Amino acid sequence: MSFGIRFFPPEASSIASSIDALFYTLLASAAALGLFLTVLVVGYAVKYRVGSAADRTGARARSLPLEMTWSIASLVMAFIFFGWGAVLFVRRDHPSPDAIEIAGLGKQWMWEFRHSGGQREINELHVPVGKAVVVSLASQDVIHSFYVPAFRVKQDAVPGRTTNVWFIATEPGRYHLFCAEYCGTQHSEMGGWVTVLAPEQYASWLGSQDEGESLAASGGKLFRALGCSGCHGNSSKVRAPGLDGIFGRPVALANRQTVIADERYLRDSILVPNKEIAAGYQPVMPSFDGLVDEAELQMLMAYLKSLSFQFPSFPAANSEAPQ
Ligand code: CUA
Repeated sequence: MSFGIRFFPPEASSIASSIDALFYTLLASAAALGLFLTVLVVGYAVKYRVGSAADRTGARARSLPLEMTWSIASLVMAFIFFGWGAVLFVRRDHPSPDAIEIAGLGKQWMWEFRHSGGQREINELHVPVGKAVVVSLASQDVIHSFYVPAFRVKQDAVPGRTTNVWFIATEPGRYHLFCAEYCGTQHSEMGGWVTVLAPEQYASWLGSQDEGESLAASGGKLFRALGCSGCHGNSSKVRAPGLDGIFGRPVALANRQTVIADERYLRDSILVPNKEIAAGYQPVMPSFDGLVDEAELQMLMAYLKSLSFQFPSFPAANSEAPQ
C-alpha cells in the first residue's frame, strides 16, 4: 500500500537492519507513550468536563508505588536505548582491519574519491559487495557530510581533520550519495551515486580505470619532493624519527606522554610539528601548513600507512640511494 512511493531507502549494508531495528523500536515506544498520554488527556478532559456528573471528591493522593513504577520504568527504558545505541555506535566506529581504504575529499561542491590503486572518481564511488570499505574523509573548505541512506551511514568531513566511515555493502546496485551538511549555494547538488559491484565486476572495473599511480606512490613522491625524506630517511635518524611502521604505533613524546600515531597525530605532525615532539628529538621541523592541501595530505597519509606494511625496510629511501 505504498502507492509507488518509497518511504524508506533499501537496507543495503551490514549495519542497516540493526540501525533500523533501533529506530523502529524507538519510534514504536514513542508512539505508544504518546498514544497512552493522549488517551489519558482526552479521557479525563471528557470525564471532568464542565457540567459532567463525574465524582470530584477525593484527595490529591500521592501513590508511592505508582511514582516509583513510572520513574524506574523510564530509567530502565532510557538505559536500554542508551546501551543499544552505544553498541551500534561503537560498531560503527570500528572498521574491520582488512577493510579496503578509499580516500574521500569533500569540496564545494563535489565528492572526490581516490582508490588505493590511484583510480579517481568524482561524485561516483564504486565498491565491492560483501567487503568492508573504509572511506577516510577530509574537507578542502567547509564541513561536508558523507551520507548514504541505503547504508545507514553518515559522517562529517571536517576541515583540518581526518574522519572515517565504514560499511559492508550487502546488495549490488546503485545508491544515492548525498552531502548532508549545508555547505553553501550548491549544497543540494553535492552528491552522486555509490555503485556496489560483485567482486569480479569490481576487479574488472578497477582494471578498466586509468590507474595513474597509487595514492601511496604519489605520497612517496611528495614526501621526497617536500624534503621530508632528507630528515626522516633511514640514513639520518639523528635529526628526525624514522617512519618505518609508524602508523598505529605508540610514540613516546618529549613531555613523557605517549600517543598512538593515528591519522590525527600524523596530520598534526605535518601541520603543527611543534605540538607533539617525539622524545629525544629537537623541535626543528618546519610546519607544512599552507604548503600541502588536503588531497596531498591524504597522499602523504597513504604513503605513511604503506610504510607500516613494509617494515622494517625503507624502500622509498633505499630505491633512491646511490649505488
Ligand atoms: Cu557539501 Cu553540503
